[in-house]
Amino acid sequence: MKLSKFGQKFTRKSGILQLMHDLGHAMAGDEPMLMLGGGNPSHIPAVEARLRERMEQILATCDEFERVVGNYGPPQGMKQFLEALAGLLRHEYGWPIGPENIALTHGSQTAFFFLFNMLAGLFDDGSTKKILLPLAPEYIGYADVGLTDDFFVASKPEFEFLGDQIFKYRVNFEAVSVTGDVGAICVSRPTNPTGNVITEAEINTLSDLARQHDIPLIIDNAYGIPFPNIIFTEVQPMWAEHIILCMSLSKLGLPGTRTGIVIANEQVIRAISGINAISSLAPSGVGASLVLDLINSGEIIQLSREVIRPYYQHRAEQAIAQLRTELPAEYFHIHKPEGALFLWLWFKNLPITSQELYERLKARRVLVVPGHYFFPGLTEEWRHKHECIRVTYSQDEAVVREGLAIIAEEVKRAYD
Ligand SMILES: Cc1ncc(COP(=O)(O)O)c(C=O)c1O
Repeated sequence: MKLSKFGQKFTRKSGILQLMHDLGHAMAGDEPMLMLGGGNPSHIPAVEARLRERMEQILATCDEFERVVGNYGPPQGMKQFLEALAGLLRHEYGWPIGPENIALTHGSQTAFFFLFNMLAGLFDDGSTKKILLPLAPEYIGYADVGLTDDFFVASKPEFEFLGDQIFKYRVNFEAVSVTGDVGAICVSRPTNPTGNVITEAEINTLSDLARQHDIPLIIDNAYGIPFPNIIFTEVQPMWAEHIILCMSLSKLGLPGTRTGIVIANEQVIRAISGINAISSLAPSGVGASLVLDLINSGEIIQLSREVIRPYYQHRAEQAIAQLRTELPAEYFHIHKPEGALFLWLWFKNLPITSQELYERLKARRVLVVPGHYFFPGLTEEWRHKHECIRVTYSQDEAVVREGLAIIAEEVKRAYD
């Protein structure tokens, strides 16, 4: 079979393919793997109980189940959900939005595929544009979504050292330049893989830059507020006509329903709706139906703030405490964990690459993600890219404990 350019691009070896492949095998294989590599959220009993209750309600209500699974929804997504969410965001944050500012997609990953290719790539006049990622490292899932090559531009971060082996990446605004070939700026906040939450000042400067250059700022809020609120610092979410805020029900505990949410001006929403119609007719309404009541009542905010956030914060603290007891301090730094499900570990001057460390860990049944995949758009060689790994702490406590112990052993072995 001969593949088109599209076929070749989307089947060749990529970070996200390797990750999803490993994850699939780890979940399905006979040999139990310690999965510290994926982005699966935890199974939090109190959240699952609430979702189960809601599903039972759907099943018990005359016709509701049949409507949820038996009808195509509109290409923009389930109307009641769009209205409910617009109401919640107006009420919570005073944003001037209505249902016409929201569209659903099959997971927010799909939203990035649509948005990035809408705003960058090849244009009518033959010119090309890129997506600017102002803070590398960034989410691995962006790396391969462009329909054309050379799709991203990124800059090295600055380092802030906070003591106790904790550091934080900061946007280096001296290096960020919004040239004419930038179609949009995008940042995940909290950031996957580092758990960084870029500061209020940083996000405001990025927003100003985008506005001045008349391009959108895409904020990936997959872990942010108001839900799932896996964010351990106090932040103000932001939205304006030039901001495209992407959200998701995945990290709330519903990755299987594939529900992404785009909040943007009407022109963007009409475009997403059109691409939904062409690529898949309509987004699924299952996730939207499951959380509709929680959104209407506002309970989704409490559940996120009082159950989900403290749960992950505790898991992050546990993981750090274990690493501090099992690894000598001079071997590692940890990015300040301000949100999301990951620890970003930096082994300065590690004698082997993070890819080799990944292989050694895999041989011992521990899956992590080597750091170099998280620098889309940063083409220059930089040793730091090969000194970091991303470790997920959302799996069962025993799995994380055993996995971290093996990571500590292998890192010591690599240095010694
Ligand atoms: C930062 C970030 N954005 C987007 C996604 C995509 O999530 P989904 O497609 O499940 O909504 C993920 C998933 O891990 C993520 O970490």
